[in-house]
Amino acid sequence: MASETYPKFPTLFIHTAILTAGIAGFSLGAHVAFLIGFDYPLGKGFHAYVQSHGHIQLVGWTGFFIMGISLYFLPRLAHYKINISKQVHQIWIMITIGLILKYISHSTLPHIWGKQFTSFVSIGITLSGLMVLIGIFIYLKTIFKIASHMKSYKEKPMRNIRIFFFLMMIGWLIYGIGHATLSYLLFSNNQTILLPNWHLFIVDIFIFLIIIPICFAIGLRAIPLFMRLPAILWNTHLFAQIYSFNIILYFGLKLAFQLYENGSVLLPYYHIIGFMKNIIIMWFVYQLNVIFKTKPTWVEAQKKAKIPHKKTPRLYFPDYGEFGRFEWLIKSAFIWLIFASVLDAYLHFALFFHLPTELSRDGIRHAYLVGFTTPLIMGMALRMIPGMTGAMKLTKPHLVTLLAVLINFSAFSRIIPTLLPTKLMDIFPNGTKWIMPLFGISGIIGLIAVWLFYMLMIPVLRTNIVLRKNEV
Ligand code: HEM
Repeated sequence: MASETYPKFPTLFIHTAILTAGIAGFSLGAHVAFLIGFDYPLGKGFHAYVQSHGHIQLVGWTGFFIMGISLYFLPRLAHYKINISKQVHQIWIMITIGLILKYISHSTLPHIWGKQFTSFVSIGITLSGLMVLIGIFIYLKTIFKIASHMKSYKEKPMRNIRIFFFLMMIGWLIYGIGHATLSYLLFSNNQTILLPNWHLFIVDIFIFLIIIPICFAIGLRAIPLFMRLPAILWNTHLFAQIYSFNIILYFGLKLAFQLYENGSVLLPYYHIIGFMKNIIIMWFVYQLNVIFKTKPTWVEAQKKAKIPHKKTPRLYFPDYGEFGRFEWLIKSAFIWLIFASVLDAYLHFALFFHLPTELSRDGIRHAYLVGFTTPLIMGMALRMIPGMTGAMKLTKPHLVTLLAVLINFSAFSRIIPTLLPTKLMDIFPNGTKWIMPLFGISGIIGLIAVWLFYMLMIPVLRTNIVLRKNEV
């Protein structure tokens, strides 16, 4: 039997993530945004498309990336050699088939007549929820085994990121169980959509218990190296505890007022805690110093004699330009994160003081998801995965700038039209009429960006396959 080694990078997850986004997630979003933006009738499938789009984007696009990177990164972080190829395949099969089933059955359900046919298609949705949940369970079992080998770093609290992984695991568990339950209720109640309030509840769980903690973890370990940022010298363990306490309280209050009729008495506390969660996120971005890079970097802080290099690295970065301007993607992602957090904080503030506000939650949600998460995934993937697969560089690094422009334009056009106040729009004659087509094309621009991203990633991902073949 071959001796255990660190796991290979699961390129299959990345192929699937990008294909899922390109074929289903962004396409569904582009379709519904086009209908809204160009004032076409929304049709009876609208709400089902929106929910499928949300779920496929979260689990397929974002989730596969998070799983792929964590299954590669965690064993190395824990210094634990383990063979997980069987689990990787099981996770992939369960989630991929689950998402295909969701895409087909939920998109067709609103258009089907006859009780026996609708129940048959609804079973497909329930089965899809169950398959995704099984995939999540296998992933969590694997991650748990690896995480239990991680050091506690008691003596170095600034290196301790275990709590973020723990939060992420709770997030996956709630999201998986929540989505499977909602899918079952859709079938048993003979509905065409999942209970909207509860669906949005688990969407928020995904954002604040999966995406944000994993971003904190890579923000503490990987981003300072690639972006040449200051060394992390503050107590990340304490920070992680504060965030965890705040976010668990936040969702506890949210759950209580969604469950109980007189739960609205909890609303003021919910808004205070909600406001605090955004302050914590903003504080993290400020400490990371990723946007303005005003503090001395970890290299300057080391005070070691500089080793002369044959080639000169890019100014302020440790690379030689072989990953293109990936920092445009990462910096813009964090600018969007600040933007989302400021608006989210203001929304809680306004609701606490009963101030009139038109701020759309959907716009803020997309600032987190298209503005922040999507460019961050792209930037980190283009910078980190070449090293993980052995490709070491991009074949067309100059296209990364174009990618950054396209995805930011897509985010801008998706988010800004939904956030502009009516008063401002009324200043311009036909203001709304002019701004909505911008919203209408946002998804199409996003789709172009996703396919361009795939074009950049294919040679990187193929290298891993070649390496595997040679090794056999
Ligand atoms: C430019 C690309 C995108 C477009 C055009 C788009 C479009 C839309 C539209 C039109 C809605 C419905 C809003 C409403 O009901 O008022 C929606 C909802 C949603 N989108 Fe997107 N979206 C995009 C990107 C993304 C990304 C990247 C993610 C996640 C990573 C995402 C996740 C969601 C979620 C979770 C919902 C809420 C689903 C629900 O109501 O249950 N979207 N999107």
